[in-house]
Amino acid sequence: MVHVFKTYPSQISALSDITLEISSGEFTFVAGPSGSGKSTLLRILSCAEKPTRGEVVVDGVQITHPDFTKIHQLRRRMGIVSQDFKLLRDRTVNENVAFALEVTGHTRREAKGKASDMLRRIGLKEREDAPILALSAGEQQRVAIARAMVNSPSLILADEPTGNLDAKTTLDVMGIFSDLNHQGTTIVFATQFTGLIKRFPYRLIPILNGQVSDGKKVDTDEVREVKAGE
Ligand SMILES: Nc1ncnc2c1ncn2[C@@H]1O[C@H](COP(=O)(O)OP(=O)(O)OP(=O)(O)O)[C@@H](O)[C@H]1O
Ligand SMILES: [Mg+2]
Repeated sequence: MVHVFKTYPSQISALSDITLEISSGEFTFVAGPSGSGKSTLLRILSCAEKPTRGEVVVDGVQITHPDFTKIHQLRRRMGIVSQDFKLLRDRTVNENVAFALEVTGHTRREAKGKASDMLRRIGLKEREDAPILALSAGEQQRVAIARAMVNSPSLILADEPTGNLDAKTTLDVMGIFSDLNHQGTTIVFATQFTGLIKRFPYRLIPILNGQVSDGKKVDTDEVREVKAGE
């Protein structure tokens, strides 16, 4: 992203002149205190929010191009873990995860089976038929993670995905993220917990008051050449 600004209608400036590049296959922490702009940055990358100014390229597609319309196509290659989970509250655990597969053309049976496998991996197999509302916040967070991963996306945008988890479950989840990253998945992981960052030797993008200080230089002209919808 190049010279990205985001000012909310309330005139709150959430991001101010952010220029950064995350390479395919990288595991990157976006880290900073509450209110620093982490969620805003991730929401811009997932096309949930438009920047006020600046250019953003995701997976080779310039999402800020005026002609860009293929949000759904792009999102199919993304796994998104929102800070507020965004689960379907009137469905079961399995249905929530399976839903991500059904919308990309898997049969219901296939989707249910794959969802079960993913839930086993994240330690929730025995709760798969429970309604979402019967789960604790940490369990719901794991469902959101399972849903984001089940499609084998090339990019995972995870906003504080371990914020409600205990120490052991956090390490389990970090292990799953690390495995996916070793298999080539790009991971952008927003967190305010410095303990995690110290423990895992991944790239760190520090964010403070909507500004980033990061060593990597970005060729702004190269980003501009990328056209919408490619
Ligand atoms: N929808 C919104 N409307 C207005 N202001 C917003 C909105 N979302 C975020 N903000 C403001 O933008 C700034 C950055 O918020 P953001 O949610 O991106 O921070 P964050 O780093 O994710 O914080 P946290 O760690 O608490 O999740 C804050 O000042 C916040 O109040
Ligand atoms: Mg946030």
